[in-house]
Amino acid sequence: MLFLTDFNVVFRCFHFITLFVKRNTFFIFCEKQPELYCFSRRFELYYTVLRIFIFRKGILIMLNEKVAELLNTQINKEFYSAYLYLAFANYFSDEGLDGFANWYNVQAQEERDHAMLIRQYMQNNDAPITFEAIDKPDSEFKSHMEVLEAGLKHERYVTGLINNIYGAAYDVKDFRTMQFLDWFVKEQGEEETNANDLIKKMNLFGSDPKSLYLLDQELAARTYAAPSLVL
Ligand code: FEO
Repeated sequence: MLFLTDFNVVFRCFHFITLFVKRNTFFIFCEKQPELYCFSRRFELYYTVLRIFIFRKGILIMLNEKVAELLNTQINKEFYSAYLYLAFANYFSDEGLDGFANWYNVQAQEERDHAMLIRQYMQNNDAPITFEAIDKPDSEFKSHMEVLEAGLKHERYVTGLINNIYGAAYDVKDFRTMQFLDWFVKEQGEEETNANDLIKKMNLFGSDPKSLYLLDQELAARTYAAPSLVL
């Protein structure tokens, strides 16, 4: 609990709005911070009631605790995705398939972008962020196809995670987060399609060395592009 006697010092620093008075206490909203404080009539700060987040148009909203928690976890999941795809790239590099390795290196960059976008969104909403340890990805694979199938399985898993956050935002009418997640919903659709296409191509051409070489050349052409979503 904070206890402040020199209220005037604080008053000079921030723009306060008195919200309401109750018995010997009153509540003040600080626009710049922005937080809600509880004061005594002698201008002693009893405690910070809660942190409040401001929408651009000045409407007060709070990022729901569960939504914030799921977004925070998703940052970790996206960094894990990057780690996983780098492990795939390592495998293909060892196999002499540098085009495949390039494809997954680019994918890893995109996953890092996803993590950074969610982090930025949380920061824009003044939501606290906690980084957890990133799990060790699998790095032992028996075949090329096993890696591609693991990629598709992982993307379907991530789609489920995104849908879960979307559902939590929907439950509390957090339309802002839903709008933010729309980009991720579309992105997941594209990533599942890409992963599935790779499997189809490997099925068609993977058993023939010359065709595999050409497929590897095709994947070598993939280049990184910054995400279309800008916050
Ligand atoms: Fe960011 Fe492919 O999930």
